[in-house]
Amino acid sequence: MPGLATAAFSFYNVTQLILITLFQIKMKKTLSALTVFGIAFTMVFLSSCEKAYLVPEEIDIESVSYSSDVQPFFDAKCILCHNGSGIPLDLTSPGSYDALIGGDYIDTDNPTESKLYGKMMPGESMTDYASPSEREMTLAWIKEGANNN
Ligand code: HEC
Repeated sequence: MPGLATAAFSFYNVTQLILITLFQIKMKKTLSALTVFGIAFTMVFLSSCEKAYLVPEEIDIESVSYSSDVQPFFDAKCILCHNGSGIPLDLTSPGSYDALIGGDYIDTDNPTESKLYGKMMPGESMTDYASPSEREMTLAWIKEGANNN
């Protein structure tokens, strides 16, 4: 009987060994899949960081021009509605500047309190029409003194 016991024991051992090996192969695959996933994730994460960093750089916040930055933004995103046909604040050229200043939409002492800027903030009614960078460009223009430049 000891012979049978030994055979049964080693059969058990071999089975266990096979299972462990299979498990290790599976783990290796899982690990390499995780590594690939990790590298891909890191690359995507880094490239999104790079983009976030590049966006403010695209706008030269030192010199926002009313005629070549702000008005084209109004033309593209706002004058569909703000064109003098009933909705308050006509943002069409060439009267938009006077409408903004005369209508008290700009506060150069407290730029973030400006109604033009405030209306575009998240949760306010104009938020969907302006991208964050367009909003910041508008704020930069106000901070620089809201010049008709
Ligand atoms: C789809 C039409 C539409 C578009 C596009 C639109 N607006 Fe308006 N806007 C309105 C309406 C309607 C009102 C009045 C109701 C309100 O205040 O929400 C308004 C109100 C405003 C006011 C307040 C005016 C006041 O005297 O109370 C400001 C400032 C403003 N919009 C800025 C903008 C800017 C800047 C853009 C472009 C980024 C823009 N809007 C795009 C429809 C629009």
